[in-house]
Amino acid sequence: VQIVERFESTLRQVASDYPDAFAHAKSEHELRAANAKFVGPSGLITALFKQIPSLPVEQRKQMGRGINELKQAISAAFDDRLAQIHRAAKEAELAVTPLDTSLPGRGVMPGRLHPITRTMYDLVDIFSRLGFQVAEGPEIEHHEHNFDKLGFPPDHPATDMQDSFYFQPWGTERLLRTHTSTVQVREMLAHSPPLAVVAPGAVYRRDDDATHSPMFFQLEGFMVGKDISMAHLKGVLGWFVKQLFGTETVYRLRPSYFPFVEPGAELDIRWESKGKSRWLEVLGCGLIHPVVFESVGYDPEEVSGFAFGMGIDRLAMLKYGIDDIRWMYDNDIRFLSEI
Ligand code: DAH
Repeated sequence: VQIVERFESTLRQVASDYPDAFAHAKSEHELRAANAKFVGPSGLITALFKQIPSLPVEQRKQMGRGINELKQAISAAFDDRLAQIHRAAKEAELAVTPLDTSLPGRGVMPGRLHPITRTMYDLVDIFSRLGFQVAEGPEIEHHEHNFDKLGFPPDHPATDMQDSFYFQPWGTERLLRTHTSTVQVREMLAHSPPLAVVAPGAVYRRDDDATHSPMFFQLEGFMVGKDISMAHLKGVLGWFVKQLFGTETVYRLRPSYFPFVEPGAELDIRWESKGKSRWLEVLGCGLIHPVVFESVGYDPEEVSGFAFGMGIDRLAMLKYGIDDIRWMYDNDIRFLSEI
């Protein structure tokens, strides 16, 4: 009898306690803690279930039903209160100042092309519009392509070990090309005229100061066909400088010497900077020397052509007002993002 009374009184206690306990819980965490006191592994209801076997047999069924009903009521009350708490949280969230979606986002930082690459693309673009094709050649080159076939005499100072980078295992047979004129040779060996080609790429020389880098970039160009003359050269290169530096650009051709052209010239433009005006050398050019045609198997009586070569770094430096070439290769993000 006593055990039954205790059982029933606990049951009544729980039945009268849980509504308040749930109502006082202000968060999901508090609610779950309150719930555990009744139905958790060491909760009161759980303890009552365990006592059922010690009740008189004739009471067990009724008491069992009683706890079950209470347990279901607690569970339903728990769900209701939880839904209420969630709803309240949502409402509180909506009640605060709304998220300001007009704030500028954190932008993605796209990469961009290096000033040398940009200049290279500009140059290629200008010549492409005149119908020049783009070709490339290897940076490790045969002595023959770099010098001999271009008419350099064997003792020319440019072929000196002090000026060029040779590869030990091959003696003086292979080197890092010192200019892109090698592509003239390669293209003419591979194709018959007429040809109009530009060839951008890296070249290497043993030079290292504010205006020279041991690696730099050049753009070579040439046109070969029937009766190509100095007039074509002037027409193409004159148009080119005006495309690159503006239609008002004043330029001149000044006689110069390169082993692979005759006559040879340098093209200068009139350059204004810091209130001063001076001639600035932009590129080397000329009519392709008969010796070059012979070395690639063309008949110099049949074809003629012009060629030119320019330093892309130098043009990029002029265009972007950079006075030390080393900035170009330092990979300093502060410099690169300013240009
Ligand atoms: N290859 C020469 C150099 O690296 C540049 C050059 C001059 C190329 C005259 C040419 C040319 O095609 O005609 O300095």
